[in-house]
Order: sequence, then C-alpha cells, then structure tokens
Amino acid sequence: MTIHIGAAPGDIAETVLMPGDPYRAKWAAENFLQSPRLINEVRGMLGYTGTWNGNPVTIQGSGMGMPSLSIYANELIRDFGAKTLIRIGSCGGMQPQVKLRDVILAMTATTVGSPSQSMFREMNFAPVADWSLLQAAAKAAQSREVGLHVGGIYSSDTFYDERPDLNEQMVRHGILGVEMEAAELYTLAARYQCRALAVLTVSDHLGTGEALPSDQRERSFGDMVEIALEAAFS
Ligand code: HPA
Repeated sequence: MTIHIGAAPGDIAETVLMPGDPYRAKWAAENFLQSPRLINEVRGMLGYTGTWNGNPVTIQGSGMGMPSLSIYANELIRDFGAKTLIRIGSCGGMQPQVKLRDVILAMTATTVGSPSQSMFREMNFAPVADWSLLQAAAKAAQSREVGLHVGGIYSSDTFYDERPDLNEQMVRHGILGVEMEAAELYTLAARYQCRALAVLTVSDHLGTGEALPSDQRERSFGDMVEIALEAAFS
C-alpha cells in the first residue's frame, strides 16, 4: 500500500495498462480481462487486476496530465514492481493524414517540461518508447482495420492552451498528435529500466475541429486495449 494506491503487495501485475480515465480502467478490465478484481480506489483512481490469456495484468487509471501520471507510475514501478507500462488513451490529431479513430504509436514525446525536467536542468532528454513493445503493437494494429501512424507526439501540460504557436511548431515538425502524459511515462521507464509505450486513439483533430461522438469512442478504445495487450505478451 502506498500513498495513492491502496493495493496489497502482490496485488499488482508486472504488466500495467494505464488509461487516463479511471472509468476506462473499469470498462477495460470488465471487458478484456478474466476474473478482474478491484485493487485500488483511493481518490476514485480505480485499478483492477485480472488475467489476459492466462497472463496477469493490472489496469490502473493515471489521471490527466504528467504530474498525476508521474505519481501512479512512480508507485507502480518503485513499490509494486511494475515492469511494462502501456498508456492507453486519446489524443488530438495534428497532421492532415491523421484521421479520427486512427491509432498513433508514440516513438517519442516532445514536451515543454515534464515533472522530470527539473532534474535534467539544461539537458533536453529525449524520451523514447520501448522498441519491442512498439514493434509488437505495430504488428497488432496492422492486423486490424485501424489507420496506424507511428512517430512523434506532443505531451502538453495544457488542454486549454493559450499558446497556439506551440501547436503550430509541433505541426510544422511532423508531430502526429497531442496528449498530456506520455513524455513522463517514457522518462520514468528509462530511469527504472522498464518498458513503456503509449497507444493512442485520435479522439479529436486540432486542424479540422472534428471530435468523435462518445459512442464511437468506446469501440475505438477497445481496439487500443487489444493492441496493448497483444504487444505486452508477444
Ligand atoms: N489536447 C491535449 N490532450 C488531448 C487532446 C488535445 O487536444 N485530445 C485528447 N487528448
């Protein structure tokens, strides 16, 4: 049991899927895991552990933004021994070829400043996905009917952005989409020799202003859960 995760020792699997939304954790556990059981509800940040094809898996909400994800990922890794952490979440599309419902696998994540930034001082650390997970997730996505993009994303600190010029620079530099967590997850995984990946569904588009209706979000989210699970155990 840690400050933010009320699980008992041994309650958390080495493989953890991390949606931002705790209710997505519940939905994914109930729909994709066998025998899911609630292992955390501190602050309503639900976490479940069950099995997938016989493999133990935890699905733990991360909350929104890098400071929140950092708390959960630190405790999962340092106190509960998590080794493979896969973010499953939504993102805003930034390039014209990126369409709603497409899946983005983040090779790397650019950020203005993650919670880890202060320890790097003048250094711009380049957070990267784990290659084995990235490769396996690409294969899993290619076997489905989803549009797939693999490349850089932008982990922003602000959803309601007062600096549109930052998005413009990201678009100019080929960044595929924007979300709010991956850069810190990749940095923590590097620090503690874990594997990490962000599998993202495009839920809205910054260029066109389109957004997925909520009923279609669920279906797209299911593809992402399956891609993450296949990648983790391939
Ligand atoms: N900005 C930041 N995070 C997001 C977005 C966005 O437009 N869409 C989904 N997650």
